[in-house]
Amino acid sequence: MDIKCEIVVMAAGKGTRMRSPLPKVLHKISGWPILRHVFTAIEGLSAERIYPILGHGLEAVQSEIESWRADGMQVPVTVCEQKEQKGTGHALQVALEAVSKNGAKLPVVILSGDGPLITSDVLQSLLLKHQESQAQFTVGGMELENPFGYGRLVQENGLVKKCVEEKDASDIEREIQLVNGGIYVAENSLLEELLPKLSPSSVTGELYLTELIELGAKADKKIITEVVAPKYLHGVNDFEQLSRAQRILWGRKVKDCMREGVRIEDSNHTYIEMMVEIGQGTRIEPNVYIYGNSKIGRNVTIQSGSRLENVEIADNVMIKAHSVLQNSTVREGAVVGPMAHLRPGADLGPGSKVGNYVEVKKSVIGKGSKVSHLSYVGDAEIGEDVNIGCGFVACNYDGVKKSKTTIEDRAFIGSSVQAIAPVTIHADSYVSTGSVINRDVPSGDLSIARARQVNKEGYARKFLPKKNAFKEE
Ligand code: UD1
Ligand code: CA
Repeated sequence: MDIKCEIVVMAAGKGTRMRSPLPKVLHKISGWPILRHVFTAIEGLSAERIYPILGHGLEAVQSEIESWRADGMQVPVTVCEQKEQKGTGHALQVALEAVSKNGAKLPVVILSGDGPLITSDVLQSLLLKHQESQAQFTVGGMELENPFGYGRLVQENGLVKKCVEEKDASDIEREIQLVNGGIYVAENSLLEELLPKLSPSSVTGELYLTELIELGAKADKKIITEVVAPKYLHGVNDFEQLSRAQRILWGRKVKDCMREGVRIEDSNHTYIEMMVEIGQGTRIEPNVYIYGNSKIGRNVTIQSGSRLENVEIADNVMIKAHSVLQNSTVREGAVVGPMAHLRPGADLGPGSKVGNYVEVKKSVIGKGSKVSHLSYVGDAEIGEDVNIGCGFVACNYDGVKKSKTTIEDRAFIGSSVQAIAPVTIHADSYVSTGSVINRDVPSGDLSIARARQVNKEGYARKFLPKKNAFKEE
């Protein structure tokens, strides 16, 4: 059963430890800004509205949020501005003003914008525990072997009495391993009654949200904790923590893929971003990266060391080792690599082949056509069943503009041919090895565009001994 709620996301902090000009919550992890992971978890709840509290980089964060809404995110959003970051308690005060303005009386879920590992299920179970226990305030807690740095939750008779921050804790309190995970569910009435009563910390001058626990306990409110596994609550304050969260997210995605019938040979060394879709029967070797909005079909093989970003790969494709593909389309049964480079706009037809050390940019390669070795195909349109020999270059750039090379169906291009664009090699023609083509080749013709060979009889035999006499030791 879904429990209706309001959501406050605290994300005004600067993220000083990142030492980065980007607001902390906009750093990407698994293809999404940290904050988007939080919003995605929230989307799984029956949330009436999200109140993100923004401060540092407000405009940048706000426009990101708007772009997610344009992408189809349904939950309404009211951005609250916390001009000065005077603590988590102050942040919540700012949000409560907006919540009250909307007349909302639902339970309020409060979480941090820097916790990308949170899931709908975890938030759901926190809400459920809160409701079933008829609590007024529920804290998501974690049991940590090393609780250093976290607020410790002091309990009595199964109720939480206070949260002591590291720097304020006594030696005995520091031994407590149950810590505040930084997610909460609060009754609206408790917030309205107690939030105005927070007092600044004598150490930092900030208002701590966690003081609500002590104030609540004194006022006989029912304050409980629900223990959540740390892998859902790890926050990101610096790049070390970002990397740890990243590892957990890689692991989750890989597990999801395996459950869907994708064979991943080494789940610890496969890196797939959130939005990627992969069909059943596909096999992925170690050290493969798949990024962005990539869609991979069924029964595809992706060999080790390949990096794919925003690609569309049809069924039965083979991507051989160490290939790099970006914003490209590979159709049914095509073979790519090893060590091929598909740059944006490459479109490989069904059953086509792009072999080792071949770079393709903004070019269509027709059905069954082959570019097997050491070539550059840029701004080209290649028809069906074309064979391009080793070392072909589409000379597409004259230093000012890019021009197009067209090679029509069934043309045969010998090795080491250069096509100086714009140029068209028509259907069923044959271009000899070593040609430099700068005029169109008519259909059915043989084109030879290279200097005629001259053999000088006996020259080498006469010349070589003289040359050797002058050789320096
Ligand atoms: C907080 C808790 C601590 C808990 C830990 C769990 C408090 C006082 N302490 O500490 O008990 O163990 O989380 O991770 O709450 N923020 C604002 N405005 C502010 C201050 C902070 O929006 O004025 C936002 C931050 O951007 C961040 C979140 O609130 O997303 C948490 O603040 P942070 O300073 O990271 O708190 P912690 O020290 O981690
Ligand atoms: Ca934090």
